[in-house]
Amino acid sequence: MKVTVVGAGAVGASCAEYIAIKDFASEVVLVDIKEGFAEGKAMDLMQCASLNHFDTKIIGSTNDYGKTAGSDVAVITSGIPRKPGMTREELIDINAGIVKGVTANLIKHSPNVIVIVVSNPMDTMAYLAHKATGHPKNRILGMGGALDSGRFKYRLAEALECPISDVDGMVIAAHSDTGMLPLINKATRNGIPVAKFLSQPQMDAVVQETKVGGATLTGLLGTSAWYAPGAAVSEMVKAIALDSKKMFPCSVMLNGEYGQKDICLGVPVILGKSGIERIVEVELGDAEKAKFAESADAVRKVNGLLESALS
Ligand code: LAC
Repeated sequence: MKVTVVGAGAVGASCAEYIAIKDFASEVVLVDIKEGFAEGKAMDLMQCASLNHFDTKIIGSTNDYGKTAGSDVAVITSGIPRKPGMTREELIDINAGIVKGVTANLIKHSPNVIVIVVSNPMDTMAYLAHKATGHPKNRILGMGGALDSGRFKYRLAEALECPISDVDGMVIAAHSDTGMLPLINKATRNGIPVAKFLSQPQMDAVVQETKVGGATLTGLLGTSAWYAPGAAVSEMVKAIALDSKKMFPCSVMLNGEYGQKDICLGVPVILGKSGIERIVEVELGDAEKAKFAESADAVRKVNGLLESALS
């Protein structure tokens, strides 16, 4: 399994590090436009191999996509991250051009690659990657829900005062502060609905803290987070590499599922060697259905700003 990670910034480097530590890939190629930067990160990471006990070979490349040839999976983290007070949507103008060029380069050198888009605004960038390339639908997906679900479980465990391994839950819809839909009514502690343990105001607070999870970190760090984003991507890459058929909420092109068409939005999918093996349709309550549709409308508005990138 050869994996390319484009963008050797904090998210890309963290993603490469987690992939290496999990030791399932033979090779990771880190690519960055900044001269020598990816090579430096790759060398630093390789010097961890004997200490962290992994055999994954990591190499760096300054914008030479030839080195990415034959990649099975590629992760796109390039673009600018948000600063405190910014929404993910405000990054669109700069990031659209970058994501379009990177996706085309990746597919040119690895025609069968499975592309995971991380750059923000992620749902729109995943949509752009589909529209600009015509790459098979099951081979382009966006990472948002896996990260948001990690943040949801963190907040659930905090409210329940229990270990995170006791809780399960999922976040679907857009990877945005307002469009995210934490499925609180489906969240459980060891199979028992969390409503058994938490009051409605406590559940509302968990949902709200989850939705602004990224913005809270941006406020604390001065830039967007990287450990949990890197960890979330590495789990998705691992599920593809091991053909594990694990379920993750991912941003995928919908064609009628969840009542939506021609849009990338977070829904549960099964990941395996073909990338998206299938989309799982779960029954949503009426309020959840309405929120999902609202989230789709907001993403569609942002997608409308892609006109120049797609012309
Ligand atoms: C976040 C960025 C990666 O949510 O979108 O931290």
